[in-house]
Amino acid sequence: MSPVFSFAVSNWAPQIDAAQQQQLVDALESGHVVFLPDLTFAIEENEQPIFQSELLGRSKNISYLPDRRLLKGSQSSGAELQALQGLMARFAGATAQLTTHLLGPYCGSLIQARTSFRPVEIVGRQTSWRKDDSRLHVDNFPSSPCGTQRILRVFSNIDPAGQPRLWRVGEPFDSVARRYLNTLRPPLPGSSRLLNTLGITKTRRSAYDHFMLQLHDRMKADASYQQHADQDNVAFPAGSSWMAFTDQVSHAAMAGQFALEQTFMLPVESMRSPSAAPLRILEGLMHRRLA
Ligand SMILES: [Fe+2]
Repeated sequence: MSPVFSFAVSNWAPQIDAAQQQQLVDALESGHVVFLPDLTFAIEENEQPIFQSELLGRSKNISYLPDRRLLKGSQSSGAELQALQGLMARFAGATAQLTTHLLGPYCGSLIQARTSFRPVEIVGRQTSWRKDDSRLHVDNFPSSPCGTQRILRVFSNIDPAGQPRLWRVGEPFDSVARRYLNTLRPPLPGSSRLLNTLGITKTRRSAYDHFMLQLHDRMKADASYQQHADQDNVAFPAGSSWMAFTDQVSHAAMAGQFALEQTFMLPVESMRSPSAAPLRILEGLMHRRLA
């Protein structure tokens, strides 16, 4: 099975019918990456200097909170800061419009979270194994527990040099979960409350989040798995966009520079098939509620 479902749209407010919307939602929920090869996020004239900036090189990840119009992680100032904030606000707006038009069944349920700009070339980036996103993993947030929400992410390759962004996409979530199930350990009693009290997590970490973080670590720490697990190489050309439930799709970013990413949260119960959610799959395997 190809992990990629390609769909032809070329603007950020595409008019598609309900059957196509359901097809896209079903592709996402069954663990596909929805690839939008013709959907380019165009860079405006005043934003071009951002890509030559030396300041960007020091920031691995610049984030923007659309609801608060707040930029974080940038060392830029003046016109450059303005342009950067403008770029990210435009992407937040474009992806909100895109998901409204493409994912009709989620209308009113998607919650727009953080926008991020990833200006650093992945190849040669120095990082710990746990933060090394060139290892196959599924996403979860250590400080912002997901609870009963999914992580849906929209990406755009905006590299002005035209380099593709290269991913590896691994086996289905169900297979990943079964492989590591016996290695997952329950949280220590009281740890969820303690993490929250100490401010390490913004809300109490659910058992689901605890197990997802462990799964993330088990995958990344397993060199043999990284090498031998079923996987496909996928190239996202400059000027293309794609989206996936990254809490479900095993993924690794191998190469590329200058990508934009927008995160949305979606309540499990707003899915067309909630049983496909990692939460429900883990609950099925563990025979108990986890969030
Ligand atoms: Fe990731």
